[in-house]
Amino acid sequence: MRTVFGVFGNPIAHSKSPDMHNAAFRELGMECTYHAFRVSPENLKDALFGAKAMGFGGVNLTVPLKQEALKIVDADPLAEGIGAVNTVDFKDGMVGYNTDGLGAKRSLEEKGVKIKGSNVLIVGAGGASRAIAFQFAKDGADITIANRTEEKAIELAAGVSEVGNAKGCGLGNMKQLIADSDILINCTTLGMHPKTEGTIATAEDMHPNLTVFDIVYNPLETTLLKEAKKAGAKAVTGEMMLVYQGAEAFKIWTGVEPPIEVMKKAVLEGF
Ligand code: ATR
Repeated sequence: MRTVFGVFGNPIAHSKSPDMHNAAFRELGMECTYHAFRVSPENLKDALFGAKAMGFGGVNLTVPLKQEALKIVDADPLAEGIGAVNTVDFKDGMVGYNTDGLGAKRSLEEKGVKIKGSNVLIVGAGGASRAIAFQFAKDGADITIANRTEEKAIELAAGVSEVGNAKGCGLGNMKQLIADSDILINCTTLGMHPKTEGTIATAEDMHPNLTVFDIVYNPLETTLLKEAKKAGAKAVTGEMMLVYQGAEAFKIWTGVEPPIEVMKKAVLEGF
C-alpha cells in the first residue's frame, strides 16, 4: 500500500510541494504519494487526527495553519520558539517541526556562505523572518532584525535572544546596518510579483563582501538581487529555501536524503 503525505493550507491550489515531493518519490522508486488539501484553521485538528488515523506518513502545513498547529501537536523546541509548525510527523504520536529556517540555512551553505559567527541582517518580522532568525541565532550568527514596524522587530529579537544574539530596529538606518553585515536577507514581500520594482535596498547601500538572499522567488531574479550583482555582492535566489525546507521534511518522515536536483527541477517547471 502506498504511504500518503500531503500539505494542508488555504489557499493551496498553487502549492509546488506535491510536484516536488512526488518527483522525489518517483526518482527513488518509493511507494508514496503527496497531495494538497484545503484545510481551514478550525478544521486543522480533525484533519490532523484524521490523517493520522488513515495512516498518512506526515504532512506539511502552510498559511494559515502554522501557528494553530502549536495547540495540537507536540512541537519540538525550535518550532515552539518560532511559534509555528510546518512539518508534522505521525510516526510516534504527532510531532511538529519547523524546517523553514533550515531551508534558508542550506540555501546559503550550498553557496559556500558560513552562518556561524556572521552578522546577519534580516529585514521583515513576519513568519519567514521568525523561522530564519531563530534557526540562525541557534547556529551562532549575530542577528539584527529590521522592520518597517519597529516594535515587531524588537519583540521578535527579544524572543530570539533566548537562543542566541539578536537585536531589533526600524528601517531608518539601512545603509549603516548593511555596512555592518555579512549577510542580508529579505523576508518582506517587497519585490514580489506583480510589484516587482520594490526593493529593501539598492546597490549603493551594499558592499562586495555581502551575501544577499531574497526569499521572494517570484520572480527568481528580484530587483534586490539585481542590485546585489551591480554591487559585486553574492546573490542567492529564494527557490532553494522552498526545496530545502521540503527536503528536511522528507528526511524527517522517511529517514532518506531526497534528490535535491530533481526537487528543484520540479519546482522550477511550475514557473
Ligand atoms: P511572511 O509570513 O511571509 O514572512 P508577513 O507575515 O506578511 O509575511 O510579513 C511581511 C513582512 O513584510 C512584514 O515584516 C512587513 O512589515 P510590517 O511588519 O511593518 O507590516 C513587511 N513589509 C510588507 N510590505 C512592506 C513594505 N512596503 N515596506 C517594508 N516592509 C514591508
